[in-house]
Amino acid sequence: MAETIDILIVDELSYLQEILKPMLLQEPRLKILGECQSESEALRMTEEYQPHMLIINYDSPNIDTIELTKKLLSMDPSLLIVSVFSQSSKTFIKEVMESGVKDYILKPFTAQQVISTLINLHDIHDGFEKLVKDEENKPLDEKKKEEIECKVITLFGLKGGIGKSTLAVNLAVGLSRRTNKRVAIIDLDLQSGDIALMMNLFPKRTIADLTKDMHLLDEEIMEEYLSIHSSGVRVLPAPLSPEYSEYINPLLVEKIIKILSKIYHYIIIDTSPSFIDINLTALDMSNKIILMTTLDLLSVKSIKASLQIMKKLNYSNDKLYLVLNRYQRDLGLSIRNLEKSTGKKLLAKLPEDYETAIYAVNKGEPFIIKNPKIPLVKSIQGLVDYFG
Ligand SMILES: Nc1ncnc2c1ncn2[C@@H]1O[C@H](COP(=O)(O)OP(=O)(O)OP(=O)(O)O)[C@@H](O)[C@H]1O
Ligand SMILES: [Mg+2]
Repeated sequence: MAETIDILIVDELSYLQEILKPMLLQEPRLKILGECQSESEALRMTEEYQPHMLIINYDSPNIDTIELTKKLLSMDPSLLIVSVFSQSSKTFIKEVMESGVKDYILKPFTAQQVISTLINLHDIHDGFEKLVKDEENKPLDEKKKEEIECKVITLFGLKGGIGKSTLAVNLAVGLSRRTNKRVAIIDLDLQSGDIALMMNLFPKRTIADLTKDMHLLDEEIMEEYLSIHSSGVRVLPAPLSPEYSEYINPLLVEKIIKILSKIYHYIIIDTSPSFIDINLTALDMSNKIILMTTLDLLSVKSIKASLQIMKKLNYSNDKLYLVLNRYQRDLGLSIRNLEKSTGKKLLAKLPEDYETAIYAVNKGEPFIIKNPKIPLVKSIQGLVDYFG
């Protein structure tokens, strides 16, 4: 069984003890070590019991959550502190999170929400501690001091379902493992982005939430919006629902890429199959564009159209790469036909492997992690080596 998560509850009013505790008891991994009703009791019990996590009711009138959080973290910086409150304003949440609180639960809440928030928080940090390399653990101040040469790689294609997202997640994880450098993915498929799902992440914040913080956005705030995959790759997820995407505009996308490129060595951008303005911003700002296609007439036609538009936009031919996906064999259309009609040599040919691809999606686990010997992984590894 997965590791239990040791918890202390801190609430002077006993609200958490009455409402939240019965919910926690439903999940065997969550173990309540004790209940505290004052700040001094919280500090004493933390020292005595050494919990993984403290859940603090922000609304306790005589407990200053922000001060208590700072004191607790000075005792043990690895403590996971979760604040429970009812105010949902962004400035308030930002202030609480800045004190070192790792996550929050908004009242009213359901057992499901509470349990998944706590388990995700613990497991992400646990995986992060174990897997993220020393280099990635550097504080932001140190990251900022480094001169980072960031490569921005965008996956694009005017046809849907050709494997852009599949390659995005596997390329990102592959680059992180090969180079030990910092890698972030931006999911710009705002209507139906599924990068978080493909990486088994349950994001609390997405690119849509950033719109409210746009004027404040800097490296520190940006980091708070990124979900952390166990490989160390960070993800800026697409909105949880398409209607939240309407305020995401090219200016915001430009700002996000600029900020991320100061602190990440690689930015992988997944896009929707269209030349909408935010995609154009991503393409403009990319060092490399991977044009994805399959070997069928419609795909090839759309790649030709993309290349023509990109030529008109004066994109350098050197930054455009052609990648063929789901290749089985030539069926009336050959690789030679493809290369001739597009005027571009293929950078890679990824074989059809439905079983591997679909299993990875259903498990939420990029296949590059586990299957080094299969041909599909070998070809993606070739791309990782090329871009790494
Ligand atoms: N090489 C492959 N072999 C077999 N199946 C694949 C391969 N690559 C991707 N797939 C499958 O094809 C489907 C579409 O892939 P994916 O979602 O990555 O495409 P997409 O271009 O991002 O699509 P959309 O434009 O809808 O976002 C998925 O079910 C994926 O598992
Ligand atoms: Mg996609």
